[in-house]
Amino acid sequence: MSIKVTWYGHACIGLEVGKYRLLVDPYLSNNPLAAATPDQLSPDTILISHGHGDHVGDALTIARRTGAQIISVFEICSWIQAQGYANVHPQHIGGGFHYPFGYLKLTLALHGSAMPDGSYGGNPCGFLLTSEGKKIYLAADTGLFYDMKLIGEEGIDLAMLPIGDNFTMGPDDALRAVKLIQPARVVPIHYDTFDLIRQDPHAWAARVAAETQTTPVVLAPGDSLSV
Ligand code: NI
Ligand code: MN
Repeated sequence: MSIKVTWYGHACIGLEVGKYRLLVDPYLSNNPLAAATPDQLSPDTILISHGHGDHVGDALTIARRTGAQIISVFEICSWIQAQGYANVHPQHIGGGFHYPFGYLKLTLALHGSAMPDGSYGGNPCGFLLTSEGKKIYLAADTGLFYDMKLIGEEGIDLAMLPIGDNFTMGPDDALRAVKLIQPARVVPIHYDTFDLIRQDPHAWAARVAAETQTTPVVLAPGDSLSV
């Protein structure tokens, strides 16, 4: 069975694994490029990579409506519980857990992670999902780091990498990331949402195609692909 991956804009990603629906970094209601509103999505699981508003987004609103379990680093799960929402599963970087939808490991990310109210959010993370015989790496907000090579050694079918620059890797470093990870396919994310992160994803994809063995896939918000 394949995994359906939908990019809703910015860093918000939907993953459909069999009957399970995961939603990553659900920044929708304040996102000018969002391809869905919070009430249109009904995930059973929500992943939060770090505490910034453009990633926590509508997580609590959606979770309170659907009862979704929120998975994140320990500190963010504690913050979620402090907001009065109990259904969380804390993990931390390097740790994986076997869920009904697959094995989810938290990965290193070089970034910040204060919560929207200024609370401590711990370390930011990315996600590595192993399911249906496939591996999907969601780097989340991060700068380039050489240990991406270690993640790549697992054999990545799809990587979703930020290319926006300013807050995360820009096009040059994201291209270097592709060379370290060597995924079968790569999707650029975290660009064009704000003026500070305007990029040309097609120009970047052309460089990926010319300089690596990876197939670049440029999605429009709302587009899906199967892994
Ligand atoms: Ni951020
Ligand atoms: Mn961000």
